[in-house]
Amino acid sequence: MRVLSGIQPTGRFHWGNYFGAIRQYIQLQHEADHAFYFIANLHALTTIRDREQLWQNTLDAAIDLLALGLDPEKATIFVQSDVPQVSELCWLLMTIAPMGLLERCHAYKDKKAKGLAAEAGLFAYPVLMAADILAYDSDTVPVGEDQIQHIEVCRDLAGSFNHLFGETFVLPKAKVLDTSARVPGTDGEKMSKSYGNTLEVFEEPAVLRKKIMRIVTDSRPVDQPKDPESDHLFQLYSLFASPQQQQEMAERYRRGGFGYGEVKKALADLAVEYFAEARQRRQELAARPKQIEEILGDGAATARRKAAEVLLRAQQACGVKPR
Ligand code: ADP
Ligand code: TRP
Repeated sequence: MRVLSGIQPTGRFHWGNYFGAIRQYIQLQHEADHAFYFIANLHALTTIRDREQLWQNTLDAAIDLLALGLDPEKATIFVQSDVPQVSELCWLLMTIAPMGLLERCHAYKDKKAKGLAAEAGLFAYPVLMAADILAYDSDTVPVGEDQIQHIEVCRDLAGSFNHLFGETFVLPKAKVLDTSARVPGTDGEKMSKSYGNTLEVFEEPAVLRKKIMRIVTDSRPVDQPKDPESDHLFQLYSLFASPQQQQEMAERYRRGGFGYGEVKKALADLAVEYFAEARQRRQELAARPKQIEEILGDGAATARRKAAEVLLRAQQACGVKPR
């Protein structure tokens, strides 16, 4: 199994990113023959236009991922733009990418639907993502549900290229966590930066506690029983609680006679504890920028070697280079 995934450095990671994506990356690095994980700064450039912010976000993302458990001994960790071969491969794929296919992709389509002017980069976003995946002969791509469409585009493009020019690319498959990993935000909607309802993994504990206390709940009277499964506060609690703790909490919900404040406090205690070790590691890593640079440099060198091999194969297949 050759695993690859990318994550955009568009802000600090929240619980949805961790439980929906990052946790799976960490697990797969132990199971895969090769795992490539990168920070998709070229993709983020379609939304971030502040140089300082983009670079700071990129470094923060690297430190966060390492602190959470990505291990450079097990996985190749790098920054997308450090592998220029991907951008070259992207062009080869652009020449065969049907407009209609890209017009249906949601990032571009949603922006158009809002009446906003979209850039060519946003339109071609899925082609760059396809190049990311194909450049490393990846067969398994762990992503959240929202990215399945893009993996389908990648498979389409790889299939067309292979059909036109002969077997060149490996067709990848998306690996999606079960839907229970759809983490709700503080308002009960899907947790997402765009909804402003996030709880960040490395938030200061005091700030995190305050945010948790402000999680929206219904106005059920204290003595009234409630179904735990349909409550987003319970769903958040379950991310961190042991099966026994979950069961006990579920029973309290069904019995009634308690306030949401107690659940929030229990949730805050568990969440702070859950990320305490990673927080400690993050502090240590942040104090050693040279080490981060080295890890990303080594990762990029490994990634470039593989991408150069695949790019040459593609260039020879379509006649840009002689065989
Ligand atoms: P956001 O919606 O905050 O902008 P991204 O789109 O950058 O987050 O998501 C990065 C990764 O985290 C993707 O693989 C995505 O599927 C996953 N993810 C984001 N939010 C959630 C969530 N609420 N529950 C589960 N997974 C999520
Ligand atoms: N588009 C993905 C996201 O927003 C990030 C990404 C870029 C990616 N290239 C990728 C994910 C390649 C998987 C594989 O979450």
